Amino acid sequence: MGFLAGYVLGVAAGIGLIIGFARYQNIRSKRRTDLAEAIAAFARMTVDDSRKILPNEFYPSWVVFSQRQKLILTWLNQHLEKLWPYVNEAASELIRNSVEPTLDAYRPVILASLKFSKLTLGTVAPKFTGVSIIEGDAREIIMELELQWDGNPNIVLDVKTIVGVGLPVQVKNIGFTGVFRIIFKPLVDEFPCFGAVCYSLREKKNLDFTLKVVGGDVSAIPGISDTLEATIRDAIEDSITWPVRKIIPILPGDYSYLELKPVGILEVKLIQAKELSNKDIIGKSDPFAKLFVRPLRDRMKSSKTISNSTNPIWNEHFGFVVEDESTQHLTIRIYDDEGIQAAELIGCAQVALKDLEPGKVKDVWLKLVKDLEIQRDQKNRGQVHLELLYCPYGTESAFMNPDDPDFRLTMLEKVLNHGSDGIDKTDPIKSRKDPIVRGVLSMTVISAEDLPSTDLMGKSDPFVEIILKKSEQKNRTRVLNDTLNPIWNQTFDFVIEDGLHELLILEVWDHDTFGKNKLGKCIMTLTRIILEGEVMDSFPLDGAESGRLNLHLKWTPQPIMRD
Ligand SMILES: *[C@@H]1O[C@H](CO)[C@@H](O)[C@H](O)[C@H]1NC(C)=O
Ligand SMILES: *[C@@H]1O[C@H](CO)[C@@H](O)[C@H](O)[C@H]1NC(C)=O
Ligand SMILES: *[C@@H]1O[C@H](CO)[C@@H](O)[C@H](O)[C@H]1NC(C)=O
Ligand SMILES: *[C@@H]1O[C@H](CO)[C@@H](O)[C@H](O)[C@H]1NC(C)=O
Repeated sequence: MGFLAGYVLGVAAGIGLIIGFARYQNIRSKRRTDLAEAIAAFARMTVDDSRKILPNEFYPSWVVFSQRQKLILTWLNQHLEKLWPYVNEAASELIRNSVEPTLDAYRPVILASLKFSKLTLGTVAPKFTGVSIIEGDAREIIMELELQWDGNPNIVLDVKTIVGVGLPVQVKNIGFTGVFRIIFKPLVDEFPCFGAVCYSLREKKNLDFTLKVVGGDVSAIPGISDTLEATIRDAIEDSITWPVRKIIPILPGDYSYLELKPVGILEVKLIQAKELSNKDIIGKSDPFAKLFVRPLRDRMKSSKTISNSTNPIWNEHFGFVVEDESTQHLTIRIYDDEGIQAAELIGCAQVALKDLEPGKVKDVWLKLVKDLEIQRDQKNRGQVHLELLYCPYGTESAFMNPDDPDFRLTMLEKVLNHGSDGIDKTDPIKSRKDPIVRGVLSMTVISAEDLPSTDLMGKSDPFVEIILKKSEQKNRTRVLNDTLNPIWNQTFDFVIEDGLHELLILEVWDHDTFGKNKLGKCIMTLTRIILEGEVMDSFPLDGAESGRLNLHLKWTPQPIMRD
């Protein structure tokens, strides 16, 4: 976020970047005028002049930096310390202007507005603790700077909630350690030898801060403190953390090609969660999920709330723009819906996109934790079941059937095939069209093994109820008496209109003269069956101490309907 950006601008000052920085400022005071003159003189220098002033090894080859790290660090720190009072004074307005809209983009709906009423960076300058030059592309220079800041800034946020309560919240005791990546690109002959500077937080090692309501108690509004803290962390993490970068033009030019661009779409099916820890005293939690690749308000997706359940089934589908599959993650947070109050977090989980094979569906169960940064979490908060498919632009996907050119199933191919309604780069998610996959699902419920016993004789009278959740079709097997290893060997056919969004639920029940007891269930999407055509497998029963269900599933595709 901005106060961190302030550091980077400070760094910039040390290495000639101040030229760009100075342009933002409205110079009035004497001190600033002096600074501006120095900068202007600096900017007017010719290459030869600068050779005279800067030690040889500083110019023009930056690579020498790598052998002179100590020198550079000392040099940078001295400069930054000297410049800090100016940076502090000048940056406040700049930061306020650039950070307020950023913060607003991450503002959760429960907060009506979020503004700065005070912002100064304080008297303590950040310290550079490491520097390295990353060799590589000859058209750019990549520098990584580690810095540490135990600052005493004075930052007061004016927070308004949707219920109309306004309160000033002070952000105190900031402790930060992180590595900034600074890219000088394009390299040019003209001083200062680069056209623009991009900076980004490459790695955040530590970020601590405390929130304090000025003249009040933050607990006056339940959940606000956590919400605000999460918002600030999201904003810092997402708005400048790699691959997101900020671009500062130094020489005039069009640098839009340096900006982050979408490279693909992540398709996520939120299937279900199980054994969620219960947050409610009366009844059970009302869980819903928030999913995001980037925590921007308009790019986060929320599922429906499932009332009164610790084993919710959602069967919902979401798409996310991906900008850098090597570093981005899908994050999922599961909350208990508390109505008008801020929702309470049940747990969260993350999947790195680099762990997904492009174009291949991955089915995962993720363990929920309280905090993604604290890896060890003894408490069982439950698990969430997702199906993931990453489609980089311009690649073939898992649903491609090579024998049938019309059998193109992912939105991507469909969109790519219909040139005119192609992907709108500004909003690739909204512009996509969901494909329709039709077919006949033929399922043989062969048998079950090792079912839990329910009666005193150590036996059950099991039957299987088959539910297709989306199309609301149902059927059931016959009841078999007195067995824990029933063999039904019954086949059922279902016409499926929307295979990619269908969910198959098989519930094993014990038939009892006095009613029925659920022994366990299996939940699956049809993805694997559609991809493989035929699946013969044994599926463990969920929610049961023991038991497996043996199934034979077959998919017969029907011609695809186009719109
Ligand atoms: C919640 O579900 C349980 C069964 O799981 C039921 O006994 C209870 O009455 C439900 N409570 C509410 C408030 O719906
Ligand atoms: C199963 O038991 C019930 C009574 O408990 C009986 O009515 C039914 O005929 C039995 N079914 C079979 C297949 O034996
Ligand atoms: C299921 O039925 C088929 C014929 O309908 C038969 O060939 C097969 O052996 C049966 N399987 C079992 C396990 O009884
Ligand atoms: C249930 O399955 C049987 C056997 O496949 C079939 O004859 C029957 O029509 C089905 N019932 C429904 C409601 O689909």
